Amino acid sequence: MDQAQRLREYMHRHLGQQERKTPSRMITITSGKGGVGKSNFTLNFALALQSIGKKVVVLDLDLSTANIDILMGTSSSGNSLADVLHQRKYLFDCIEKGIGGVEYIAGGLDIQELVTLDEKKLIFFMNQIHELHSYADFILLDTGAGISKVLVDFILASDETILVTTPEPTAIADSYAVMKTVLQFTNQVPKFRLVVNRARSYREAIDTSRALKNASQTFLKMSLNTLGFLMEDAHVQKAVRTQTPFYLTFPNCEASKNIKQIMYTFLPDLEVTTNTPIKGVRGFFEKMLWLGKSR
Ligand SMILES: Nc1ncnc2c1ncn2[C@@H]1O[C@H](COP(=O)(O)OP(=O)(O)O)[C@@H](O)[C@H]1O
Ligand SMILES: [Mg+2]
Repeated sequence: MDQAQRLREYMHRHLGQQERKTPSRMITITSGKGGVGKSNFTLNFALALQSIGKKVVVLDLDLSTANIDILMGTSSSGNSLADVLHQRKYLFDCIEKGIGGVEYIAGGLDIQELVTLDEKKLIFFMNQIHELHSYADFILLDTGAGISKVLVDFILASDETILVTTPEPTAIADSYAVMKTVLQFTNQVPKFRLVVNRARSYREAIDTSRALKNASQTFLKMSLNTLGFLMEDAHVQKAVRTQTPFYLTFPNCEASKNIKQIMYTFLPDLEVTTNTPIKGVRGFFEKMLWLGKSR
């Protein structure tokens, strides 16, 4: 029996009984190009979901820039998933309560470490991760820029992916490249949905989503659904400067209305897909482990 198998055995034996409630859905938020508004989208989308009674945890797996806490204006304790990985902290020591009730976990780890971890630490880590199993309705995973194998793994391991782009041709090209790269590693088409950010008009937003939809349909044989649009809105920058989320500070600005609209598209769409089993956070890390080992 290899390590991953032993781990699965262990989990089923010790934790199987607890799995009664619906698992938290893991949603990866990504883009090809950096600076397109992923972190702002993630935080404000989380707040919108939270405001209608959904429980959301934001997981920051961007190693280079940990900026969700900066956007919330909270100073974090410095604890991160890396501490859980090395048995220095329990998972619940790492959950920060942010503005508007959104909870936040800093990643602070190179996910590759998961693969090289000794069995004792791995069991501790997976055990701790299990605490999140049905803890939230959604776990939003904010990722870094750049198309890497780890990003592909995140996408393959999560329940669905929200691809954020802007109308800039470079951002569109990089979004297409993300989908193309992911398809090179799987024959099961993952679920992608598109958010066009910083559009200067609805026309531009529609043209952008149409361009990506057509390209993915024609060249990748993959259908890409659009989740919604966010307009270029100066309130977003204003909110970033004051380290408060725009959804709370400017609830009636255009970007906030767009976020609300996106949420109302997102939620009923989930109902339609309830037949697909939710991998959840445990499924996510198990798959990450498996993908890492099979590389
Ligand atoms: N809808 C928008 N309107 C205006 N500016 C925006 C909008 N979305 C993002 N921005 C600007 O883009 C910057 C980068 O956003 P951020 O969420 O940090 O991007 P990423 O996480 O993709 O790197 C923000 O600080 C903000 O100034
Ligand atoms: Mg970011």
